[in-house]
Amino acid sequence: MSLKLKMYGEVVLRERAKEVVEFTDTLADLVKEMYDVMYASYGIGLAAEQVGRTERLFVIDIPPESDVDSKGDRLHPDVKMPMVLINPVIESHSEETEQGTEGCLSFPGISGDIERWSEVNVAFFDEKGTPHAFHAKGLLARAIQHELDHLNGVLFIDRMSPVKKALLEGRLKRLARDTKRNQS
Ligand code: CO
Repeated sequence: MSLKLKMYGEVVLRERAKEVVEFTDTLADLVKEMYDVMYASYGIGLAAEQVGRTERLFVIDIPPESDVDSKGDRLHPDVKMPMVLINPVIESHSEETEQGTEGCLSFPGISGDIERWSEVNVAFFDEKGTPHAFHAKGLLARAIQHELDHLNGVLFIDRMSPVKKALLEGRLKRLARDTKRNQS
């Protein structure tokens, strides 16, 4: 199995991922390969659709220096990275939202401000099928929401302001056209 990063324009990015029901060695291998693809692309998160798969999972690796509040204090010293979130569910979230700049490995060179909940409580399984839950804020909360969107076929450009999206229209069209060309 050799996974390739899927770029904007690939149909799979619009698919809704399916719940994982069996925690097999094959699943663990997929997770390992997704870490490899994420690191090869210098990403901090990667969802299954981005490698052409439809299992309901994503991997994430927030570097410690980015896991800090505005004062520089570590937000989640007890959350071990990298991690995989399988069948993730946001069980609750803050009323408060915040804007932050996001990019996406499936959209090279494109970034934009996106509004997300400031804090989320997320429940999920690891690759062995063990359930976990934690409270996330900062970049981790943002990354979880971005990746969970992927599992529902939602892309960060869908959440950009109409003005920003209009500004990006030409680049997005070009990117989708290049993707199609590379497929054929
Ligand atoms: Co993304």
